[in-house]
Amino acid sequence: MEKFTIVQSARAIPSRVVTNDDLALFMDTSDEWISSRTGIRQRHIVDTEDTSDLAVTVAEKLLHQAGLTADQLDFILVGTMSPDTLSPSVAQIVQGKIGAHNAFAWDLSAACSGFVYTLSMASSLLSTRYERGLVIGAEVLSKLVDWEDRSTAVLFGDGAAGVLLERTTAATGLLAESLKTFGERSQFLTAGQQQNANHFAGTLKTADPYFKMDGREVYSFATREVPNVLNEALAKADLTPDDIDVYLLHQANGRIISSIAKRFGQPIEKFQMNMASYGNTSAASIGILLDELREAGTVHAGQTIAIAGFGGGLTVGALIIKV
Ligand code: ACO
Repeated sequence: MEKFTIVQSARAIPSRVVTNDDLALFMDTSDEWISSRTGIRQRHIVDTEDTSDLAVTVAEKLLHQAGLTADQLDFILVGTMSPDTLSPSVAQIVQGKIGAHNAFAWDLSAACSGFVYTLSMASSLLSTRYERGLVIGAEVLSKLVDWEDRSTAVLFGDGAAGVLLERTTAATGLLAESLKTFGERSQFLTAGQQQNANHFAGTLKTADPYFKMDGREVYSFATREVPNVLNEALAKADLTPDDIDVYLLHQANGRIISSIAKRFGQPIEKFQMNMASYGNTSAASIGILLDELREAGTVHAGQTIAIAGFGGGLTVGALIIKV
């Protein structure tokens, strides 16, 4: 077991709400189509904020809630696929803005598995060398969306959330994990291609900065591979699906989550969902859900939880955590 404790959680959600009906005003879609296929009813979209603004708010809330100062942090890790810039990373902007003078910081890019992969990395750091760090998932996906492509524009939202983690001697932390990457299937979900307009380039191929997704491929990938990694992680922890109190899955699509709950023979109440309010916020989704559930008391000390992400890469991963 890699021992750590989740000291605090926090989220930062842009104030502007965009409902399915709002989208139907300028795109050929409907609330019925979107909500019946995905469970999404609205999403939050930024006005002027960028990804680091949301991540800084999360970091400040975490420190304030814990009564800590920024110089008490050893590291800041951010999972994101929509950084403000390639350099500095979002984590480095956060480190500078909050004045975390003793912390190193970097971003991890694993699309919708970003929170799971980043939490796994933080668990290793805490179990070997460091005392305290932040894990944040932050996304402004609205800048990667082609607002003329209804097949993807209706799915995504903006937001950020994170946790403050500390090394502990208590019996809490990571019991087991399974992380997998399928780069050979990367073409099924891409975003953020950049143009190389170098002096020597011949005929330039126009870069496509926007989301391109084969929804059916990603759907079948998720319903096949998420159960696989959950089963592997459970087996490593010597647990069965019944031993998990709450499952927190990446909030892309309610139908994906319902099908996984059924496959595990688990009551749907154990698989909490909030995509109706936020849409798919990629690396932020599990953190937002975790913070809401901690706030509501649905996730609390003493429980065993499973978290699982899936998405671009293609990537998938599951962690079993004693909280
Ligand atoms: N409104 C109305 N009609 C639409 C819309 C829309 N927003 N989008 C597509 N349609 C139409 C299509 O044009 C198509 O019409 P046609 O039959 O006349 O050609 C029809 O609806 C069906 O389209 P499909 O794409 O086949 O719809 P599907 O039932 O597969 O649902 C969806 C699409 C919801 C995207 C589903 O495939 C899905 O959820 N896939 C998984 C996506 C996912 O989980 N991604 C997570 C990873 S994201 C990340 O990593 C960042």
